[in-house]
Amino acid sequence: MQIRARMSMSADGYVTTPNGWPALTADPAFVSGQSHGIREFLEGCEAALMGRTTFEPALTNNRWPWPDLDVFVLGSKRPDGTPDHVTVDNDAVRLLEKLRSVNRGGDVHLIGGPQTIGTFHALGALDTLELVLLPQLFGGGMHLTPALSPDAGLTFERERVLPGGSVEIVYSCRGSRSELPSKPVGQR
Ligand SMILES: NC(=O)c1ccc[n+]([C@@H]2O[C@H](COP(=O)([O-])OP(=O)(O)OC[C@H]3O[C@@H](n4cnc5c(N)ncnc54)[C@H](OP(=O)(O)O)[C@@H]3O)[C@@H](O)[C@H]2O)c1
Repeated sequence: MQIRARMSMSADGYVTTPNGWPALTADPAFVSGQSHGIREFLEGCEAALMGRTTFEPALTNNRWPWPDLDVFVLGSKRPDGTPDHVTVDNDAVRLLEKLRSVNRGGDVHLIGGPQTIGTFHALGALDTLELVLLPQLFGGGMHLTPALSPDAGLTFERERVLPGGSVEIVYSCRGSRSELPSKPVGQR
């Protein structure tokens, strides 16, 4: 079982639109039906893991977004209307134990958002981080990075161009830690 995060991001580094929607929803190519590789990504997944903020909008969706996946939510309360089969826990370690105890060998899609990715990364539970870089500038929104430590230790695995001009970049989170310069480049 691998825990795999996949985040869409604007070219100026925002994972949400200025009004809080996932970045992908602003891409005309996605809205017109391109999947941006999500179908292939989900082929190996049996579970979806996310924070309560990312989960709650699904409760008012016309269509349940994860019909084929077990769903696990990190949050301090069980939102009203949460289906019985969804596991909610306020403790990330306990939620991971629950997830592992029912795992049948498939991967886990760590959907987000940034706070929850940061939480599982800090626990050493994140295996890969996939970024889908959109050919768009938002000028505002939420960043992935404040919740993800600069010493995340990403190791490049692969990239590919997606329809509509997006680029998928996959990093392993199990590699060596990245070294950031202690001073700005050019200063001695
Ligand atoms: N670009 C993309 O691909 C993408 C993907 C997913 C989401 N998003 C966007 O991300 C935004 C939400 O991100 P977010 O970071 O604000 O929220 P989030 O990670 O979805 O959820 C945050 C909530 O998760 C719980 N949580 C997180 N870490 C915890 C910990 N260590 N211990 C206990 N509970 C913890 C808390 O729930 P409680 O408050 O109940 O305690 C917290 O308020 C949304 O705007 C969404 O559209 C973007």
